[in-house]
Amino acid sequence: MIYLDNGATSFHKPAAVGIAVAEALRRCANPGRGGYEAAMEAARKVYECREEAAALFDCQPEQVVFTANCTHGLNIAIRTLLKPGGRAVISGFEHNAVTRPLHMMGVNVTVAGRKLFDWDDTLTEFEDALRRGADAAVFTHVSNVFGYILPAEEMAALCRRYRVPFILDAAQSAGTLPVSLRALGADFIAMPGHKGLLGPQGTGLLLCGRSPEPLIAGGTGSESARQTMPDFLPDRGEAGTLNVPGIAGLAAGLGYLRRTGVNTVCRREHRGLEECVRDLRRLGVRVFAGEHQAATVSFVPAGDCEDTAGQLAKLGIAVRAGLHCAPLAHESAGTLDSGTVRISFGYDACPGQNEALRRALTRCPSLRG
Ligand code: ALA
Repeated sequence: MIYLDNGATSFHKPAAVGIAVAEALRRCANPGRGGYEAAMEAARKVYECREEAAALFDCQPEQVVFTANCTHGLNIAIRTLLKPGGRAVISGFEHNAVTRPLHMMGVNVTVAGRKLFDWDDTLTEFEDALRRGADAAVFTHVSNVFGYILPAEEMAALCRRYRVPFILDAAQSAGTLPVSLRALGADFIAMPGHKGLLGPQGTGLLLCGRSPEPLIAGGTGSESARQTMPDFLPDRGEAGTLNVPGIAGLAAGLGYLRRTGVNTVCRREHRGLEECVRDLRRLGVRVFAGEHQAATVSFVPAGDCEDTAGQLAKLGIAVRAGLHCAPLAHESAGTLDSGTVRISFGYDACPGQNEALRRALTRCPSLRG
């Protein structure tokens, strides 16, 4: 199978990731819950992962809170910064992981900037919305549907200028674009461990520029006599036993990225994207491509999107079709009715993938109707 659904999760992980998971299952007990060797080994593994993440995202290890996925981190961050009836500014490309918690809480939402690949529009609309006042801003770094890279640094600077706290959703950028908690001055940055960071599913990180409100309360292995959650990081955000095998695998994924370099991964993925966009254009389908694009591309075939993805699957190509849990992004791009077929490259992008994809696309009946 040629796997081109890295926007959903990275699939063929570096071998070291699986080895680290198996080793943690064999050697690690519960971190912070004992002074015997197996508990200490677990604590060392967990700290190693915090250090790897801190080095990659330019923060202190204690600012790294482990979560179950990006959605979990976003929920913690959103509930910390916003209250029911509060006001949030979001971009026109947000995932349900952002919009559903806001909706559930009854937050008043302003959607700012809906033109794809257009930094002027994104920044002008965003600044207008901030000027009108907001309790917090939440924006994605990269659209999971279209690969649009939003001007995160400039948006962060605007938030700082208007003194609006903000959350960056780095679901699609962590591991493929540089992300610095310190330079952005973000209140929170949420990301999954299982996409660009190459860790197992069930892992995620919340980088904390400020103390979070706990989403759940429970044991932390610290200050056990008190009935309130510790007020220090990372314990405040980490109630209950951590996913140590997952975190050990994530540490291995982060180690792979450190040795390979995020820029190298980004270049590799981009070569795949450029070839793919050329091929799709040659085939005459409607392709969404532009400046400021990560290695994710959506297209609308003449036939049905799900049929197209199904036909590609039969030809050995794995892609995702539909609304990709991001109806707002489709509304912004005018594809809410049709959905799109999404191709997303990963760290293992290579010319062979493009060749196989090209062959499959030309044999796909619903591509041109
Ligand atoms: N949010 C993930 C995706 O875009 C699952 O496919």
